[in-house]
Formats: sequence, structure tokens, C-alpha cells
Amino acid sequence: MRAATDILEISPIIPVVVLDDAAHAVPLTQALQRGGIHTIEVTLRTPAALEAIERITGEVEGVTVGAGTITQPGQAKEAARAGAEYLVTPGSTDRLLDEVAETGLPALPGVSTVSEALRLAERGMRALKFFPAEPAGGVPYLKALSSPLPDLTFCPTGGITPDNAGRYLALPNVRCVGGSWLAPKEALGKGDWGHVEALARQAVSLG
Ligand code: 3PG
Repeated sequence: MRAATDILEISPIIPVVVLDDAAHAVPLTQALQRGGIHTIEVTLRTPAALEAIERITGEVEGVTVGAGTITQPGQAKEAARAGAEYLVTPGSTDRLLDEVAETGLPALPGVSTVSEALRLAERGMRALKFFPAEPAGGVPYLKALSSPLPDLTFCPTGGITPDNAGRYLALPNVRCVGGSWLAPKEALGKGDWGHVEALARQAVSLG
């Protein structure tokens, strides 16, 4: 099993996807892969999410599948059962952290303050999601954390775009960013996998 810090090294961008139709999961993942992205975070925001994770893990080789937006009791375990290889939470309550730890999977827990980051460091967690990145202070905020918290690495997510991703990726404490722009609803609806592939290719070039 990978360490959480290794998850940040897979691709400079983690596509954060919302799938209404599990049938989109495999062609979407394959399009991202053709564009050079080898991970995908399927958010548990839709009834189709767990089936999507199952389909990707069952049918696509060479892509590491995460489950995101883990906020409710039982979701970490359900995601692990569906085949998720890492877990992402937007925030970090003790209950969520305990449930995530019980799965044994690597995790990117969400933080937006120094105290939250320190609490996670006390638990031995070194790879964190910084969320929501832009509203919570963006590049200057993360830059300010690098000196007092040099052992922590962040995946900023929330408001990241092709225009600002490069500025985050240039920070010493950022290894990758997360963003939903790689899987636009219209492209999914139309099955425009060529567009997804092009977005992935462009995103990879930012890192
Ligand atoms: C997430 O859960 O990480 C966010 O919804 C992604 O944010 P974005 O839509 O601003 O990229």
C-alpha cells in the first residue's frame, strides 16, 4: 500500500470528479489517463459514486482511485469496500479521522488552519488537503506555512484553475493540486472524452 505522501506524487493534478452516471467512470478515467493523469478522486456526492469506484478499479489498469468528500459515518468503510485506494476528506473531525484510520488506507485529510494542520501532524499525518484553497488564503497562506511547518505537504483544492495552478505547484510545500475543472459536466454528458483528454494534457503541462 502507498503512503499518503506518495499519493501526492502520482500526478501534479488530482481530478476531483462528481459522477451522476457510473457508466461515465471508465471512459472518463481512460481519457484522463491518455492525457497523462494517473489518479482520480471520485467524490461521494452522488449515488453513483461507489459503483463508479468499483468500475474503475475493476476495469482500468494503472490509475490510482481515491474516494473524496468523505463526511458521513460509514463512508470511509464503504469507499474502501468499493476498492478506493486512498481517501480524501474536506475537513478533519476526530470521528472522520478515526474511521479513515480504521480502513488502513492512505488519506489526505482536509485542513484550512494552522491548528488543524498541527493536530494532524500530531497524529503522524504529513500529506494534507488544503481546502478550500482560494477562499482560505491561497498561495500566500500556504507559502507562510512552509517555514513553521516544513514537514507538511499540501494538496490545495477549491478554486484551483489552469490559471493559478502553476503558482501553487511552485511552492515548496505543494506537490500537487486538486480540481474539478478536468471533468466538466457538459463533457461528461456529451461523452466528449477528447475534451477531457485535452484538459488533462494541459493540466499536466502546468506541473
Ligand atoms: C473539492 O471537493 O475538492 C472541491 O469541490 C473541488 O473544488 P473546485 O470545484 O473548486 O475545483
